[in-house]
Amino acid sequence: MYKVLIPEKIPHAAFELLRKAGLGVISYKAGGKFPTAFWNKQAPLADGFVSLLDNRIDAKVLSRLSKCKVIANYAVGFNNIDITEASARGMYVTNTPDVLTDATADLTFALILASARHIIEGDGFMRQRKFKGWKPDLLLGMQLSGKTLGLVGAGRIGAAVAKRAAAFGMKIIYFNRSRNQKLEDTTGARKVTLASLMKTADVISLHLPLNKGTYHMVDSKLLAMMKTTAILINTARGEIVDEQALIRMLKTKAISGAGFDVYENEPVVNPDLLKLNNVVLAPHLGSATETARNAMAAISVKNVIAVLKGGKPITPVNTI
Ligand code: GLV
Ligand code: GLV
Repeated sequence: MYKVLIPEKIPHAAFELLRKAGLGVISYKAGGKFPTAFWNKQAPLADGFVSLLDNRIDAKVLSRLSKCKVIANYAVGFNNIDITEASARGMYVTNTPDVLTDATADLTFALILASARHIIEGDGFMRQRKFKGWKPDLLLGMQLSGKTLGLVGAGRIGAAVAKRAAAFGMKIIYFNRSRNQKLEDTTGARKVTLASLMKTADVISLHLPLNKGTYHMVDSKLLAMMKTTAILINTARGEIVDEQALIRMLKTKAISGAGFDVYENEPVVNPDLLKLNNVVLAPHLGSATETARNAMAAISVKNVIAVLKGGKPITPVNTI
């Protein structure tokens, strides 16, 4: 009987699907590094592996997965996996595109609104019992209608954020390798250079995968181009932004604010970020809705089942 290594906490439906397909289960506790004893014993037994975005799957880990045919990452991003090495070993790697697009776009918009309208600061103000009545100048924020949203990356998630922004009356500009005609037709978005986007957008939102080319892509030089009134939102991957450089900008109020769902050294958070009141911090919640997580669980195990039955995965990110 084939065995699938799968995290305990993912929705129950995943286990049902595996059982119905006649596959065995080896479950593991979520969260970063595997205990060595568990890993050394169980990894060589796994024919399939449902991995989490904080499982670092490098060449050494892959060598332990000696008979594994498919790694189904329970995420759209797959920067935690050495794809070249997996391909060389004849292992498929799959992700969970589409099913988490709306959830992540919603969370992005929640951060945009919370940053633009000082929602978290206002909540703190209430709890500290500082509210003494309506004031003409209390916590004034940015109205979104008429403002420009700059999307760095215009794939599925970027496009879903654009749709929301268009409904709020925002103008949309985007930086992307290729032109997204559908995005332009449906939201009036315009493709621009990255420098032009950084200089003109009122809200900048990052929707790129993390790889060698995007690591620290938003560096001090690009950040310095931002308007002093602008806000930066990151729901993609922390390492895309030079966090130290951004913290300096926030400290000196060189930009108005930021909203983060992801961090450079996740789960460690730079203590300086915690001291700033012009940044909104969420604990990597992009896909954290029941709808998205149920669908992610289903697609992950369907990928595993398809490969173990001798077929092709549904959403592969590599070719073998
Ligand atoms: C979440 O960050 C994901 O990549 O799915
Ligand atoms: C990126 O925006 C994606 O959905 O893959």
